[in-house]
Amino acid sequence: MQKILVTGGAGYIGSHTVLELANAGYTPIIVDNFSNSEERVLQGLAQILGHVVVCHKVDCTDAAALQEVFSQEGDIAGVIHFAAFKAVGESVAEPLKYYQNNMAGLVTLLQVMEANKVQNLVFSSSCTVYGVPEKLPVTEETPTQKANSPYGNTKKIDEEILQDIAASGNYGIKTIALRYFNPIGAHESALIGELPLGVPNNLVPFITQTAAGIRESLTVFGTDYDTPDGSNVRDYVHVVDLAKAHVTAIQRLEKPASVAFEVFNIGTGQGSSVLDVVKAFEKASGKPFNYKIGPRRAGDVPAIYADVTKATQELGFKTSLSLEESLASSWKWQQQLMK
Ligand code: NAD
Ligand code: WQD
Repeated sequence: MQKILVTGGAGYIGSHTVLELANAGYTPIIVDNFSNSEERVLQGLAQILGHVVVCHKVDCTDAAALQEVFSQEGDIAGVIHFAAFKAVGESVAEPLKYYQNNMAGLVTLLQVMEANKVQNLVFSSSCTVYGVPEKLPVTEETPTQKANSPYGNTKKIDEEILQDIAASGNYGIKTIALRYFNPIGAHESALIGELPLGVPNNLVPFITQTAAGIRESLTVFGTDYDTPDGSNVRDYVHVVDLAKAHVTAIQRLEKPASVAFEVFNIGTGQGSSVLDVVKAFEKASGKPFNYKIGPRRAGDVPAIYADVTKATQELGFKTSLSLEESLASSWKWQQQLMK
């Protein structure tokens, strides 16, 4: 069974990907420093899989410790690099923290991969690289724009680093960068899911915490945008569908003819407004939901959703879970957290 190193594998998207890798017959090896996750995720994974997943508590910016992992594990067929900080607001206040972790982490990983002749990399990128797009839906050809936060800039620069590595022809490293839209939902078992620390910035954890009584009400950030109902439009993709795309990306990299750098949009192809999400959540949870309309949030993109033709045709990507099913799984996870 081929080993795939999953940096940030204890996190939200990483843990779901670890499961899908195991389901597809790979041996996932987690590398995580638990800066934004808890070790109990390993128990959830073990309960679902019926066996323990190997995990190294290591920081990706620590070259010696990372080398030790590669030496201990021996043959590693590929790496999926999730490990990064992701809070947009915090990145504005503490940009150095973000440039250090998200860029030094990637560069260190690439150096250790090269030293160990590990060539296949899947990189977590983001639709944030498109900024405010001129045309919707966005394809992979849609021009990227100046990032509107240091976090977004780390993703843009990381993609450029990977492009330069590929163009040099000198490292043998091939990368698929997956540009995620808005991942939501949790595994059907409700044994793993998103663990937001403090007050959630993201819409869906805020909604589930409000429904659970932890927050008083949701504020919809603006209903005066040029969108069908005036609220922002996003592309909410179930995390299990997203996780599966990483497995197919690894399989694509394993083919001898695969190219040195490729990007794919991973979303559903459907735009949903904030108010659509609220309505779908009411249906999914079976109860009315408390929200109010507030002012716009600074920096929000009015509308963005993906054209997923390339991922559908070339990765065989498909979404199997609707918005309502995704929200139902988020709600089930929230209820499990409350127990
Ligand atoms: P997460 O915070 O749940 O997971 C990231 C994991 O990486 C955490 O377990 C954290 O402890 C770990 N980590 C961070 N820095 C590390 C380091 N230096 N060394 C080792 N481990 C480290 O985040 P997530 O939502 O699962 O996101 C995963 C990736 O996907 C990130 O790169 C993020 O930028 C990207 N992404 C996320 C979203 C989203 O909305 N969740 C959207 C687009 C892209
Ligand atoms: C979704 C919508 C809000 C909270 C962020 C990052 C992006 C990417 C995905 C990593 C927006 C609205 C939210 C609330 C609200 N992450 N909202 N009330 O902003 O699309 O993207 O996560 O790469 O880089 O910026 O996601 O979940 O914060 O917001 O009305 O209390 O919900 O205005 O329209 P966003 P989000």
